[in-house]
Amino acid sequence: MSLKCRGIWFPRYVDHVSVWEIPAHVPIMDQILSRLDMDERFRCMRVPAARPVPGLEEDVRRGLLVRPRSLPPKYFYDERGSALFDRICDTPEYYPTRTEDALLAACAGQVIARARPDHIIELGSGASRKTGHLLTALDRAGLDGCQYWPFDVCEPMLRQAAARLMAAHAGLRVNALVGDYLGGLSGMPRPGGRRLFVFLGSTVGNFEPAEAVGFLRELAALMDSGDSLLLGADRVKSPAVLEAAYNDAEGVTAAFNLNLLEVLNRELDSDFMPDAFMHRALYNAVDQRIEMYLISRVRQMVHLSRLGEHLELDAGESILTEISRKFTPETLEAMLGEAGLESVARFEPENGYFSLVHARLSRRSRVRPL
Ligand code: SAH
Ligand code: TRP
Repeated sequence: MSLKCRGIWFPRYVDHVSVWEIPAHVPIMDQILSRLDMDERFRCMRVPAARPVPGLEEDVRRGLLVRPRSLPPKYFYDERGSALFDRICDTPEYYPTRTEDALLAACAGQVIARARPDHIIELGSGASRKTGHLLTALDRAGLDGCQYWPFDVCEPMLRQAAARLMAAHAGLRVNALVGDYLGGLSGMPRPGGRRLFVFLGSTVGNFEPAEAVGFLRELAALMDSGDSLLLGADRVKSPAVLEAAYNDAEGVTAAFNLNLLEVLNRELDSDFMPDAFMHRALYNAVDQRIEMYLISRVRQMVHLSRLGEHLELDAGESILTEISRKFTPETLEAMLGEAGLESVARFEPENGYFSLVHARLSRRSRVRPL
């Protein structure tokens, strides 16, 4: 099965099972009816990019062949990288996933009661696992007409998540949106009614500050006064806790980072030797962000055959592969403010490790002329 979706490596939860597979013990007529019902409740649409997005070759030329060296994080997710990412989420050191999951379980009822959405639109939905809490809260509130719009770059995974959610939530309609959100959001459908946008996993922290504000502005531009945004963001905390989360003892994050070189080798016909590099994640307290690097252990030359280029690396030279920004309540609010948004509620655990912010258009933005 192809592992490339619209130029981005991805499929995390792809397997060879039909997404509509129903256990064998279910009688055949029920299987047919169930499948018809699911087909009826599911649609899949492609979101056209509003602006061109660079591909791997261009990103390598712009980021890797110049100093300081860097690569965008979207190339991490080939089949192996995706499986490793899942394992990172389960490592004892990586607290964000389980912290956000518990927060969402606790606050979903309040968020749904305030938002009363007709549509839930989730950006970078992945397997939509945490979203289940919102759908359960909808069921409990009797808002069962609400439709779910997961947006991700990988169609097979969207289909699989949709099948799982439709099986768990009777009557749920899922409109899967396939696209690259870096290409802009203006091509997204704009269903009528109240909309709750959802952006979890502190994925907003993987953007540079200006990129994050730009992205949130694009979201705000899609919002009307009754709409809201639920944003998950990781918080500034002890550097030891932060660095441990990105340097797990078992070495899963290291394997995930080094796997990027295997992706480059396969895609660009290059000859990186992963053993000649090491993984390092450091907390930069000035910029309040984790920086993840691949560091060359030796002086070496790498050939990028498909590009007709080569790369000379000194011993100790680093390639920045990911940033993960950490927020305070103030920096979070400032970021939202720059995008024309303001929080109406913030949910966080007692230790302040993670925030879920429920935000809406700020008053100023709500009165702006159309
Ligand atoms: N929201 C989930 C997954 C976070 S991982 C969670 O909190 O666990 C980030 C997700 O964003 C992945 O599912 C990935 O496929 C998706 N993604 C990454 N870059 C993307 C892009 N440019 N456009 C659309 N989706 C993207
Ligand atoms: N949004 C997640 C984060 O910044 C992505 C992530 C988790 C990640 N673990 C990682 C990215 C390890 C690279 C390496 O925490």
